Amino acid sequence: MLEDLKANNRAWAARKTAVDADFFKRLVGQQAPEYLWIGCSDSRVPANEIIDLDPGEVFVHRNVANLAPPQDANYLSVLQFAIDVLKVKHVLVVGHYGCGGIAAAVDGQRRGLIDHWLHPIREVSHIHRHELEAIPEERARLDRLCELNVIRQVRNVASDVFVQDAWARGQQVCVHGWVYSLSNGLVTDLNVTVGGLDDLAKLDDC
Ligand code: CO
Repeated sequence: MLEDLKANNRAWAARKTAVDADFFKRLVGQQAPEYLWIGCSDSRVPANEIIDLDPGEVFVHRNVANLAPPQDANYLSVLQFAIDVLKVKHVLVVGHYGCGGIAAAVDGQRRGLIDHWLHPIREVSHIHRHELEAIPEERARLDRLCELNVIRQVRNVASDVFVQDAWARGQQVCVHGWVYSLSNGLVTDLNVTVGGLDDLAKLDDC
């Protein structure tokens, strides 16, 4: 099977250079993506493919349930590099309906380390318990939690000092919240875009 992957790779590289002979040569020199994607590790949610972008066009950070925890050195390093060095213009926090991480966060089962990782989702669930309890169907309730989690992570990113320092020096950065649907391949914009402190204040109770 791994031989298949290597063959796939050679065929892919050949296709790229057949269309554009200098494709890889250009990328060696630099990357200048305008977007940072913060998404779920789920194999069905591949960043570049969903937004149809080539290598070099989107900086990607993925983890279980697309979290942006303010103490996570991995995420923070990615965010700082994206903002301070790459100077991305847009941060896309992209959740997806049917997220196993979201479901696992609130199903009451113990799994070990992942329970700690998913803890912020239980907090979001608790904050919005009245809204969530009013949704009778479990799938719809979990899908709403997927959205609420994205909104919370948008707030986390926009609250970060790297982003706020960028705004203070006049650098334009917008943080967006999207949810991807596995069933039709389409992204929904949750319309919670934060481009400055005024926008951020509107997400205060999320
Ligand atoms: Co997921």
